[in-house]
Amino acid sequence: MRRRLFGFVFQSACPSFTLEWMNTPSLLAAAALALPLCTYAAKDATADKAPIQSSFILDVSRPGPVIAPEIYGHFAEHLGTGVYGGIWVGEKSDIPNVRGFRTDVLEALKKLKLPVVRWPGGCFADEYHWMDGIGPKDKRPSMINTNWGGVVEDNSFGTHEFMEFCELVGAEPFISGNIGSGTVQEMSQWVEYMTSDSDTPMTRLRKENGRDKPWKVKYFGVGNETWGCGGNMSAEFYADQYLRYNTYLKNYSGNRLYRIACGPSDSMYGWTQVLMDKIGSRMDAISLHYYTLPSGDWSNKGNGVGFSEEEWFHTLRRTLMIEEFIGQHSRVMDKKDPEKKIALAVDEWGTWYNARPGTNGGFLQQENTLRDAMVAGLNLHIFHAHADRVRMANIAQMVNVLQAMILTEGDKMVLTPTYHVFEMYNVHQGATSIPLEITTGDYVCGDGRIPAVSASASRRADGKLNVSLVNVDPNKPAEVEFKIQGFKVKSVSGRVLTAQKMDSENTYDKPDAVAPAKFSAVKISGGVAKVSLPAKSVVVLEIAGE
Ligand code: AHR
Repeated sequence: MRRRLFGFVFQSACPSFTLEWMNTPSLLAAAALALPLCTYAAKDATADKAPIQSSFILDVSRPGPVIAPEIYGHFAEHLGTGVYGGIWVGEKSDIPNVRGFRTDVLEALKKLKLPVVRWPGGCFADEYHWMDGIGPKDKRPSMINTNWGGVVEDNSFGTHEFMEFCELVGAEPFISGNIGSGTVQEMSQWVEYMTSDSDTPMTRLRKENGRDKPWKVKYFGVGNETWGCGGNMSAEFYADQYLRYNTYLKNYSGNRLYRIACGPSDSMYGWTQVLMDKIGSRMDAISLHYYTLPSGDWSNKGNGVGFSEEEWFHTLRRTLMIEEFIGQHSRVMDKKDPEKKIALAVDEWGTWYNARPGTNGGFLQQENTLRDAMVAGLNLHIFHAHADRVRMANIAQMVNVLQAMILTEGDKMVLTPTYHVFEMYNVHQGATSIPLEITTGDYVCGDGRIPAVSASASRRADGKLNVSLVNVDPNKPAEVEFKIQGFKVKSVSGRVLTAQKMDSENTYDKPDAVAPAKFSAVKISGGVAKVSLPAKSVVVLEIAGE
């Protein structure tokens, strides 16, 4: 939720300028001024359709850092049908379920190899009181979900249900603690309840509620968006609060908490600076949030389907801005932490569109098209490129909310193009990155231009290479050539994700309109690979050899 005044670095092929800490009206005025310059010119039938040329060198003998599997993390908030209906239907539901969890969703999620799931919010976390979500369900008090549609939350999905869900899908839990409206005692007891093996009132309560052994909880977020919905705090005030709350978050019974401080959004570099100065090594990571809006305007973000090529272009241009934010925050962190011990956890990212017509605007339901697949591929490449600092990222959100993996309606379920990118890319999880610098032609839209092709590579423990490629140009194919050094190629195979239209999506009637297919437009000879990427496509290659 964006209620605060915020600024960002406005980057474009249009005359470039930087807007930092502008208030919203000035930001909108600036955007309005800038957009007409980027208006897409009507296409000339004779326009150049020659493929875009791209090249790079893949030097396998010069590996980079490991790509933390947690970069492929997820986020499930009590928001709309993200939890209720999306993953949890209850044991008595007619929808097939495993102890209340939808069987179809569980099975689909398992294929993604979920490393970590963040819960219970988001803004919801800062009004969540965990004790309301334990014990017999008919005795759990309800509350109003004030952030998301004003609906009544009955607390039937609480700590035990979330932990069981994580066990079922094989993910690490990431608990987002309430600093905005909760107390130090409440947060400290939550950690004790979940992780202690001692005999105390908290652990006895856990046992009474059916869980004998403590859980392992690795990731713990100390507040969410504390500059906004999480308490409207200043950076200095929050840093002091962090230090106070953190003092009482103990490592019980061999559990070690990985502490994630509530970091900035977009270009709030001053916030990062304060956290580094005041908290320093008392945190393991700083979070970063960045959402991609086609228009950059929170009052009219742009639609999820039926968009123009200009909106396609600006969505992709804006999503690439995260590279600048990550780079700058990382540079601020470098001053105190040159060894990069403190990570950047991009624990909310993805597209945010106008709500799907006919839905509750507070439920943040939106369409997911081939454009979202491009956004996913580009962001994952950027995270890989910054794997030395970015060691976690959680797309917003897992099911039914914003840039979701999965959409459900009653007993129906469909996998989105974003799901397919996460599934195709999961070979990069835990692999060693191979840094590369691409030279590529641009995708040009009116007066605007962005690099047409993005690439990323890694080497897995079994020795195979993964190369992922994205061609964002919706009109032109791309010829990509790369020289492979320090590796003898034996074979190559690949998969491609593309579709007819920029806004092709999977629906309950046509669930496979956008689905991965075998890709064979790749040849490797004499250590040089030549790949023909279709327009608007994502490709993942697997190269075997030694
Ligand atoms: O993901 C939706 C919301 O976006 C989250 O609750 C909040 O943290 C952010 O503003």
